[in-house]
Amino acid sequence: MWPYPRTLAHRGGGTLAPENTLAALRCGLSYGYRAVEFDVMLAADGVPVVVHDPELGRTVAGSGHINEYTAAQLGAMEAGAWFGPAFAGEGVPTFDAVVAYCKAQRIWMNIEIKPAPGFDAATGEAVARATRAHFSQEIAAGKLLPLLSSFSIAALEAARQAAPELARAWLVEAIPADWALQARELGVVAIHCDHQQLTRALALAVKGEGFGLFCYTVNTPERASELLAWGVDGFCTDRIDLIKAS
Ligand code: G3P
Ligand code: MG
Repeated sequence: MWPYPRTLAHRGGGTLAPENTLAALRCGLSYGYRAVEFDVMLAADGVPVVVHDPELGRTVAGSGHINEYTAAQLGAMEAGAWFGPAFAGEGVPTFDAVVAYCKAQRIWMNIEIKPAPGFDAATGEAVARATRAHFSQEIAAGKLLPLLSSFSIAALEAARQAAPELARAWLVEAIPADWALQARELGVVAIHCDHQQLTRALALAVKGEGFGLFCYTVNTPERASELLAWGVDGFCTDRIDLIKAS
């Protein structure tokens, strides 16, 4: 029911490296994390890039929106210096570069489709197509594949249409009352929720209906143990230094 790793490094390296960069993946790996979550958005030229915010300013130096710049322009921007001088020079990586690194290092991926406002279907379709292209051999061989997830229902629907063979998960903050019906209609294999909004009863209900259950973002070993005891299958963490990869 949950064939995936249990502990994932959130945004590549949690809060120990600049999020959603190749440096973050290297950092995660240095802590033994061979499973990551990261966010994917479309650049102006339709190329999927790995970044969280639709605007520049917080992690990427500059102003304006991610989808006003091409992937090459974003790659040349500064996405590491905000975190510390040792990370200066890290650009916004393309999805292709991140997947290539993860495949080379045998890192499993939860690919969060993170559309800029108004680009839900286009992002879901592009990310699903790119993922399918990267994993065509693994698909044919029946190997373990990445898991796509999104808060955007339109993105999940578009991903399903573009690459129905790729498993998808539905991201929510709190699990809504009609979750079982919606999850079945979406054809998702798992529900990913904010652990602070999860109750033991809901965890049991989700598992009882046969869905995978994943939480974000769990940052203490005590809370991780509690959630796992509730039947939660996996979680991502910012504290890869406190929670051992498993
Ligand atoms: O995929 C889980 C988590 O990353 C969702 O929230 O804002 O960190 O992308 P966010
Ligand atoms: Mg995310």
